[in-house]
Amino acid sequence: MKICCIGAGYVGVPTCAVIALKNPQIEVTVVDVNQARIEAWDSDKLPIYEPGLKEIVDEVRGKNLFFSSDVDQGIEKGSIIFVCVNTPTKLSGFGKGFSADLKYIETATRRIAKVAKSDKIVVEKSTVPCKTAESMRAILQAGSQKDVHFNILSNPEFLAEGTAIPNLLHPDRILIGCLETKSGMKAAATLADVYAAWTPREQILTLNLWSSELSKLAANALLAQRISSINSLSAICEATGANVNEVANACGLDSRIGPKFLQASVGFGGSCFQKDILNLVYLSESLHLPEVAEYWRQVISINEYQKMRFVRRVVSCLFNTLDGKRVALFGFAFKKDTSDTRESPAIALCKYLLAEGAKISIYDPQVEAGQIYLDLSDKTADICTDAYGAATNAHAIIICTEWDEFKDTNLDYKKIYDSMVQPAFLFDGRSIIDSERLCKIGFHVESIGKEAKVPSSSFTHRHQISQSF
Ligand code: NAD
Ligand code: UGA
Repeated sequence: MKICCIGAGYVGVPTCAVIALKNPQIEVTVVDVNQARIEAWDSDKLPIYEPGLKEIVDEVRGKNLFFSSDVDQGIEKGSIIFVCVNTPTKLSGFGKGFSADLKYIETATRRIAKVAKSDKIVVEKSTVPCKTAESMRAILQAGSQKDVHFNILSNPEFLAEGTAIPNLLHPDRILIGCLETKSGMKAAATLADVYAAWTPREQILTLNLWSSELSKLAANALLAQRISSINSLSAICEATGANVNEVANACGLDSRIGPKFLQASVGFGGSCFQKDILNLVYLSESLHLPEVAEYWRQVISINEYQKMRFVRRVVSCLFNTLDGKRVALFGFAFKKDTSDTRESPAIALCKYLLAEGAKISIYDPQVEAGQIYLDLSDKTADICTDAYGAATNAHAIIICTEWDEFKDTNLDYKKIYDSMVQPAFLFDGRSIIDSERLCKIGFHVESIGKEAKVPSSSFTHRHQISQSF
C-alpha cells in the first residue's frame, strides 16, 4: 500500500512520520507545493520544532517516508490520499473574518481529480466546515477520468503542538467518518487498518461523515471555551483576592469537570482555536441560528478581553506610561515546546506595548528573529539569545509563554532583578512562578488570576487608568 499526504505542515508530517514508523510495509510520501519546506524536511534542520519528531523522521526518512514537491506523482502512486492542507480564515469576500478559506482544499481536490488514474481513498484530514466532503465529492466526480472511483473519508486530527508525538502515538480516539454505503464502509475499514497497527480497535470510531467533520470543530470549541471560562474567572480572582489556580484545582477535582484545560493564561493562541470557532460562528449564522453564533463568539471576545486586560494591568502598574521604557518578553511562541507563533498572544501584547511607546526585548528558546519581525511587522524589537539579556535594563518582564526554563527553579531571578531598572516588575501571564519567592527577591509581581505581591519596602502604586477597565 502507498499513502500520499498533500501538505507537509504541522499535521501532515508528524502524522505521516508516525504512520510510517508503525507501518513499515506502507510507503508514505508527503508532498507540498512549497519546495523550500520540502527541502527543509529532507535536511538535518527540520522546519518545525516538535519534541520527538526528529528522532522518528531520522528513523523512517528514506526507508518508507519520503518528501517530494512532485504533487502529481505522489497522487498517482498513492491509493490513500490524505488532504492535509491549511484552512485559514477567509480574509475577504463573503464570510470575511469568519468562514474557512477552502481554496487550498479545492486546489488539492481538483489536482487529485485531474491526476488520478486509479481508484483512491481521499481522506479529509484538514479541519473543515461541516459538509465539505460533499463539495470534494462533486469536484472529484466531475473532474476525474472515467472509471476512476473515489471514496471520501473524514479523519480529523486532534494532536496538539508541543505534544504531537505522544498524542499521535497514544490517541484518545481516531475518528473515521464515512458514507454509510458498502464502499464507504470498506474504505473506512482500510483506513482503520492503518491506525490499528498501533491503536486499540476500540479507540477507532467509525461514524457518519458530517458528525465526524462537526466533532472536530466542536472539540476545539469546547476546549477553547474552558480556557475562556477560567480566564473570565481570573478577572474576578484578581479583583477579590481569590487565587485562580486554587479555584481551578478546586473545580477540577470534581470528576464531572476534570482538571485539564483550566490553566488561566494571558489568552489562548495557536492556528486553530480562533479559526475553528469563527468557522462555527459562521456555520451557525448560515444555518440561521444567531443565538448559537453569539454563544460561541463570546469565547473569542473573552480571549481578546483577557489580552487587553493584561496589558492594561502592565500600563497601570508602570505608573500609566510605558513611553521609552524597556519591557522584556519571556517567550513568543503560542505555547511551550513549539516554535509556532500563529495567533500567539505575545503578538497582540507586543503590538499594544509598542503602541504605548515601550521598547521591547524578546527571548524565546525556539522562535527565530525573522519570524518575530514578520509577526510584528516591526523591526524595532531587540531579539535576545537568553532571558538574562532580554531583562537587562528592563523596567518589567512579561512571561508570555510557559517554557519550563522560565520557572523560578530554572532561572536566576536574583541576577535578573539586579540587572533591571528599579522598581522591577514581573508580570506572569502563565502563572508559572512562585510569586511569594520572587517578591522576596524584590520584584513587584503580578500574576494572572492572583492578587499582586508587592515587596514590603514598596508601596502599592497601582493606578486605575480608565473607567472601562
Ligand atoms: P500548515 O500551514 O503547517 O501546512 C499546510 C501545508 O499545505 C503548507 O505547507 C502548504 O504549502 C501546503 N499546501 C497548501 N495547498 C497545497 C496544495 N494544493 N498542494 C500541495 N500542498 C499544499 O498547516 P497545519 O498546521 O499542518 O494544518 C493543516 C490542517 O490541519 C488545517 O486544516 C488545520 O486546521 C488542521 N489541524 C492543525 C493542527 C495543528 O496543530 N497545527 C492540529 C489539528 C488539525
Ligand atoms: C489544539 C487542540 O488542543 C488540539 O486537540 C487540536 O488538534 C489543535 O488545537 C488543532 O486543531 O489545531 P494546540 O492549539 O496545538 O492544540 O495547543 P493547545 O495545547 O490546545 O493550546 C492552545 C492554546 O491554549 C495555547 O495558547 C495554550 O497556551 C492555551 N491554553 C491551553 C491555555 O491558556 N490554558 C490551558 O489550560 C490550555
